[in-house]
Amino acid sequence: MEIIIFKDSASASLYAANEITNLISGRPDAVLGLATGGTPVPIYEELARKYQRQELDFSKVTTFNLDEYWGLSPIHPASYHYFMNQHLFSRVNLDPARIHIPNGLAMDASQECLQYERQIAEAGGIDLQILGIGGEGHVGFNEPSSSLSSRTRIKTLISRTREDNKRFFKEDEEVPFHVLTMGVGTIMDAKSILLLAFGKGKAEAIARTVEGPVSARIPASILQMHPKTKILLDEEAASCLELRDYYQYVYENKTKADRISQDK
Ligand code: F6R
Repeated sequence: MEIIIFKDSASASLYAANEITNLISGRPDAVLGLATGGTPVPIYEELARKYQRQELDFSKVTTFNLDEYWGLSPIHPASYHYFMNQHLFSRVNLDPARIHIPNGLAMDASQECLQYERQIAEAGGIDLQILGIGGEGHVGFNEPSSSLSSRTRIKTLISRTREDNKRFFKEDEEVPFHVLTMGVGTIMDAKSILLLAFGKGKAEAIARTVEGPVSARIPASILQMHPKTKILLDEEAASCLELRDYYQYVYENKTKADRISQDK
């Protein structure tokens, strides 16, 4: 894992948007794994800006979202279909046939999840997966105790996640109890991963992800076993890391070494 601590969330988001841009520039038919929630919104803003400035072409890009609420229609304003349309899909030239989000209205959830796994495999796997993290260490909606080798399936949200996500629903609406989510194993198959976390509320989950034991108690901790994962943090999210100064030192010296090799 590479831990990069930025002065603020805007710089971290810009870094992530640049990583995506570099990937698509080198490989126009790249496969992206996308997340919803508050964390990735500035990344999508920047990607839309780059598209408007004609710096990016999404026409051959394929996308797979991590998850969707079970029982919500794609036109429900709190659905992840709606979210993605609003923040990215309606703003860039993605081909609708290449966009994938689990269908929260599928009659047969297990068939839908099997088909989702098949579609990811047929696309050649995910090149770059964007992740946020839950306060209890979930990635996707793989809540504590999720099997670390799980595949896309239906899951029950813990109360804290339903509470955290209330802000996306109207006051008189209930946050669904169930979701369809890529599994931890599905996420681990991505060729590279960027996990972003901002704010004090994520600090403990980040410390346990990065420095705690690998455990289903904190599903994100399995990322310690992934060969190409970057953890992009602001100062607050990094505040509980014991080896914070070491990560900073490694990054500074790595970038120095990169600069020297680029100069040669
Ligand atoms: C979203 C997802 C979740 C969120 C996480 C953080 O598709 O799978 O794991 O990334 O709950 O949410 P925010 O960014 O709202 O703090």
